[in-house]
Order: sequence, then C-alpha cells, then structure tokens
Amino acid sequence: MKEFSADWLALRELYDMRARNPSVLKSVVQTFNDVLAITIVDLGCGTGSMMRALSSCFPQHQDWRLFDNDLRLLERARATPHPAAGTVTVVLADLSRDLEVVSETPADMVTTSALLDLVSEAWLERLASKIAARSLPFYATITHDGRIDLTPADSFDAAVLAAVKAHQRSDKGFGPALGATAASFAITRLQSLGYSVVQGTSDWVIAPHDYDMQLEMLAGWAAAAHEMGERFTAVADWLARRCELLASGQSSMRIGHVDFWARQTGTR
Ligand SMILES: C[S@@+](CC[C@H](N)C(=O)[O-])C[C@H]1O[C@@H](n2cnc3c(N)ncnc32)[C@H](O)[C@@H]1O
Repeated sequence: MKEFSADWLALRELYDMRARNPSVLKSVVQTFNDVLAITIVDLGCGTGSMMRALSSCFPQHQDWRLFDNDLRLLERARATPHPAAGTVTVVLADLSRDLEVVSETPADMVTTSALLDLVSEAWLERLASKIAARSLPFYATITHDGRIDLTPADSFDAAVLAAVKAHQRSDKGFGPALGATAASFAITRLQSLGYSVVQGTSDWVIAPHDYDMQLEMLAGWAAAAHEMGERFTAVADWLARRCELLASGQSSMRIGHVDFWARQTGTR
C-alpha cells in the first residue's frame, strides 16, 4: 500500500485549491442552495483538504465524516479548523475492503479528492453501485487524467513519462489502478446508473518559481521510472538536466486532472 506523507499533502494542497474547477464546484454548491444542513462523507480524506476547500462554500450547518486508513493523517484532519457551524467525525477505515461505510453512513453527498486514480476498475464499480443504491450525489476532484506537459522539453521526457504512466496503473492497495482512465471510467459508469455529470479540468499549473513542488514531482517520477525498469544512469542524468533547468528558473509544468459532479437525474 502506498503511504502519503502529511508534508506532501500540505505541499500539494495549494495547487489543488487553485486547480479545482469553478464551474463544477458551482454546480455542487447550487445543488444544496435550499437545504439548511448537509452531511458529507469524504473518502480518503488525508488531513482534511476537501473539508478545508468546501466548508466556506456552504453557509449551511455541515456534518463531515472523514474516512482514511492512515491514523496519522486522520489525527491532522481532526485537528484542522472545523466549519463555523457543524461537526467533524474522523473514521479509520480500509476502504479497499470496507465500502460499507458508503452504504451505512448518513450522507447527503459523497466526496473524494485525488483518490480515484489509485483505485481499480472493480473497486470503482462497487463504489458506483453503492452510491447509486442510495441515489447519493458524488463530487470527485483532482483525478489525474494522464496529461503531463514539461517545459522546456527534454529528449528523455517521453521515456520517463511512459514509465510513470505504467507505474500509475500498478496496485496501490485497491487492485490494478485505473490511473489516467479513472475519471472517464467513473463518469461512464455513473451515467449508466442514471446519473447526470458536470465535469471540467482541474490542472495543476506549476510555475518556474514553484521549486519545491517541481522537485517533488521530478524526484517521484525518477523513482517510478527506475522502479519500472528504466536504467538508473539514464534516469539520473535526466533528473540532473531537469534540476538544472529548475534551478535556473526555466522549468514549468502542467499536470492534467478532472473534477466531476454526478447526481441522479430527478433527485436533488
Ligand atoms: C493522494 S492522497 C489524497 C488525500 C486527500 N484527499 C487530499 O486531497 O489531500 C490519497 C489518500 O487516500 C488514502 N488512502 C489510500 N488507500 C486507502 C485505503 N485503502 N483506505 C482508506 N484510505 C486510503 C491515503 O491515506 C491518502 O490520505
């Protein structure tokens, strides 16, 4: 199982915040215009970034139920500022095995951020069925869609990124991961279950001065490429060239993501 450090989640949160698709978010918020209180189940909550992103968008009383299998991250989520009016409950759960939480926890909507590209087709099928069985709306943000643009280009980028793409499809604890196809798979599946979907891109735009974020991405990709069988020296040379560009302020990146909001037609 892949572990996510609180430092990495904190670093990426700013980029996630900027990236969330405003039209999709507007549809989410409008759906609940006429209700006084909402209960939100967030799957794979990490340190609570979805709650931090959404709580100020809703004037309503909010009850958040945050699920993750990492106790250290859940402790951070528990300690994060709560919505002005509402409650926060953190729950330790291995969602790869236990999806009953989606069937059993009181909820007006289910949310998740940066989780779907880690899961398998079979798992996403199960999740979609459980959500649809209760006609729950589903808001999924920051699902990677395979687009990665590096500027300026390097002749070894394509080899590294092909290996990264293959690595993204390896098992992250939920069976063979969907990786870049996760959002389109989820959307098609939910549509077949009677859901209408609003979707839009939510790309990370990483500027030349975003040194720490770029370094983290490059180091992660280099490790993944080596793990997938690329020669150590070729990967190390590529990393050194990209780090030189970064240090001289010439490197930028765009990483493609998709946000979507799915709700059953005819329901709220
Ligand atoms: C990429 S992080 C995203 C965290 C958070 N949603 C965010 O956007 O900052 C993926 C999260 O899924 C959680 N996760 C991974 N496998 C899990 C599992 N089997 N059960 C529950 N949570 C899991 C990780 O602990 C991590 O918090």
